[in-house]
Amino acid sequence: MADFRLNINGKVLPVRADGQESLLSVLRNRLEMTGTKYGCGEGECGACTVLLEGKPRRSCRVSIGSVAHSRITTIEGLEHDGKLNPVQQAFLEEEALQCGYCTSGMIVSATALLREHPQPSEKQIVEFMNGNICRCGTYPRIIVAIQRASKSTAEGSRA
Ligand code: FES
Ligand code: FES
Repeated sequence: MADFRLNINGKVLPVRADGQESLLSVLRNRLEMTGTKYGCGEGECGACTVLLEGKPRRSCRVSIGSVAHSRITTIEGLEHDGKLNPVQQAFLEEEALQCGYCTSGMIVSATALLREHPQPSEKQIVEFMNGNICRCGTYPRIIVAIQRASKSTAEGSRA
């Protein structure tokens, strides 16, 4: 066991854990940040997606020892001052979820997509989101929600 100081959502959080423990496990079981979901545990479903230095990563496959000095953003860190980010808002407005299990991973990945490609084509959306699996099959609504978020971000930046 070792002491770590993790930079999560703009705060430095101390945690004591084995350096090999997954970031997902630390978030959920030691820091009680349960917005990030455990799906497959094998890097295949995307439910556990977080941002590391702004890039989407599967937190079930990342040891905390390897991210001790990284900037980590989870779903809990996407809203600011009680205001949802455009992707979160669009997912709600388009009802782009059923059971919701995949949703936080989808939103985190889509947030990264829009930072990289503010106005993505449908093909870019499908390709970028390819590793995020929705067992409820809400893909069409998810695509529409991402397009809506893209539009509202563009309108917001013009306002
Ligand atoms: S739980 Fe990490 S990719 Fe499925
Ligand atoms: S909404 Fe159920 S897994 Fe996607």
